[in-house]
Amino acid sequence: MSTPLLNLYQLQLFLAVIEHGSYTRAAEILHLSQPAISSRIRALEESIGEKVFDQIGRQIHLTDAGRELRLHAETILRQVANAQRSIAEIRALERGTLRVVATTTFGTYILPSVLGAFHRTYPGITLVMDVTNEARAVDMVRQDEMDLAVVGFFSGLDDMEIEHVLRNELFVAAAPTHPLAHKETITFEEFAACPLLLREQGAGTRDVIDRLFQERHFQPKVAIELRQNAIIKQGIMAELGIGVLSRLGARAELAQGTLVALTIEGIVMHRDWHVVHRRERKLPRAAAAFKTLLHKHLEDYDTTIH
Ligand code: PGA
Repeated sequence: MSTPLLNLYQLQLFLAVIEHGSYTRAAEILHLSQPAISSRIRALEESIGEKVFDQIGRQIHLTDAGRELRLHAETILRQVANAQRSIAEIRALERGTLRVVATTTFGTYILPSVLGAFHRTYPGITLVMDVTNEARAVDMVRQDEMDLAVVGFFSGLDDMEIEHVLRNELFVAAAPTHPLAHKETITFEEFAACPLLLREQGAGTRDVIDRLFQERHFQPKVAIELRQNAIIKQGIMAELGIGVLSRLGARAELAQGTLVALTIEGIVMHRDWHVVHRRERKLPRAAAAFKTLLHKHLEDYDTTIH
């Protein structure tokens, strides 16, 4: 049978005996019997294969091995105390890391203010944030690059916990100079006849448009495919075509009149943002606190334009 490994308790007793100068005094202070201490020190000596004390008369003295062990024991117990302190700080949300990714509009217009509120509440937590499209955001959570994501809901999320956070209202955006701009409502055929500025595959906004066309057995006329809503907005204003945008991300342009909103007859376009994270992985404390704060922050959020 192999010798049992020396353990932290033995190291604590060993240091206590050194501190108090004898087994008897250490036993008194620690409310243990003297034989209990000596048998544990003997077990420690067996596990390292060396004696740690020499008894000279009633006095005990450290051996060379004992002196060496003392140095390491002090370091080890300090490290253990540090580890316990750090873990207690994580428990109390005084430190740790929050990793969150969101899709374009949510990440640009909502997430920063939620993270601001989170940071004010938990200033010791390091924030890691990214903004990308829906497919990539979910992938980042699956690969454990992020703790949670805010994305539109789509199929294939069976491995995720999913909670609704906010409606993402979409609209057809056109330049005020566009031939259809004077009409508030257009037919789907009029919409489909226009060159479109589209997001890339994997974007939730693109998915909405693709479905719309597939359901009606139409092909979109793609003017240009772009990865960023900000460039799509500029492209629409530059009369490259029309596009579909989140209302939330175009409030300023709609208010200024640099973009106009068109409605397609009989079609309401929206996609709901959800917070998602892996079902089988326990959500880290900081991420769980963020989720609670996110829901609270968005309780009264108004995405419509006035
Ligand atoms: P998307 O998501 O970037 O995947 O289109 C919608 C959004 O938040 O803008």
